Amino acid sequence: MMANEPGLARPDPASTYDVPRLADGEIHVWRLDLGLLSGLEPRLAGVLSAEEERRSGRFVHERDRAFYIAGRSALRHLLSGYVGVPPEEVPLRIGAHGKPFLDGELRLHFNLSHSAGLALLAVTEVSPVGVDVERVGPIPELEAIAARFFTAGEAREIRMARATEQRRLFFNCWTRKEAYLKAVGGGLSIPLSSVELTVSGEPRLLAIAGDRSAAGQWSLRHLRPAPGYVGALAAPATGYRVRRLSWAGPGTGNTAPRAA
Ligand SMILES: CC(C)(COP(=O)(O)OP(=O)(O)OC[C@H]1O[C@@H](n2cnc3c(N)ncnc32)[C@H](O)[C@@H]1OP(=O)(O)O)[C@@H](O)C(=O)NCCC(=O)NCCS
Repeated sequence: MMANEPGLARPDPASTYDVPRLADGEIHVWRLDLGLLSGLEPRLAGVLSAEEERRSGRFVHERDRAFYIAGRSALRHLLSGYVGVPPEEVPLRIGAHGKPFLDGELRLHFNLSHSAGLALLAVTEVSPVGVDVERVGPIPELEAIAARFFTAGEAREIRMARATEQRRLFFNCWTRKEAYLKAVGGGLSIPLSSVELTVSGEPRLLAIAGDRSAAGQWSLRHLRPAPGYVGALAAPATGYRVRRLSWAGPGTGNTAPRAA
């Protein structure tokens, strides 16, 4: 749906909510500091659905529960700005393999990823989108994991890299693949090795299930949301612009551009 379609009665997001307008061909990537947002819980809370509340009650560790509530509440607050309904009324639904989507809002796509207190939320009307973020840390058996889950070419490039480079390439490869799987919506029901991509240099899909022309319909972006973290964005589209934003809670209007 177009933002100005009659009958939708969307508010002007720039003035009413915390989100800037989505320009044509634009993907917004929001950075969320879940530690900071979980400190605002009283202001963020009260917007989760009954199912989300139930899920939050199932976390064993209090910090995981707080991060989940912060992430979900932020998701609802930010999406409310795009669709023009209160956060608690944002019609979040879950797809067959767990990908959340907006009921009825067919043109607005989004995807969320979180790792070690940092979350990224991608929002766009361009196409379905997938985002992944990981905190870069030691991976025991890195070469064995690469050999098991990546394509032979990707695993070889990682194995041949200098020891100091291996971790960076591994996380490039992992986040790029997960971003793709999340854009498709299948998650890990799709083997990571079914998609072949670059692990260094310009991020690019090379083949999808062996099909090189299908890969050409996609683009990948490398994201560096914070020191020690790496991320990737995937979409079955080319030529879009990524606008990087961060959000520090309701009413803060944090739309300042940030470093990639
Ligand atoms: C979707 C999937 C690939 C997410 O992987 P992940 O890296 O663990 O988690 P992320 O933080 O990136 O993504 C989780 C979010 O993606 C969204 N999501 C869930 N299923 C999804 C799917 N099938 N497609 C797209 N997005 C999905 C949800 O918003 C979820 O957030 P929530 O848990 O707060 O609801 C999941 O299917 C999975 O099984 N992951 C396990 C991956 C793993 O073992 N990672 C080790 C890293 S080294």
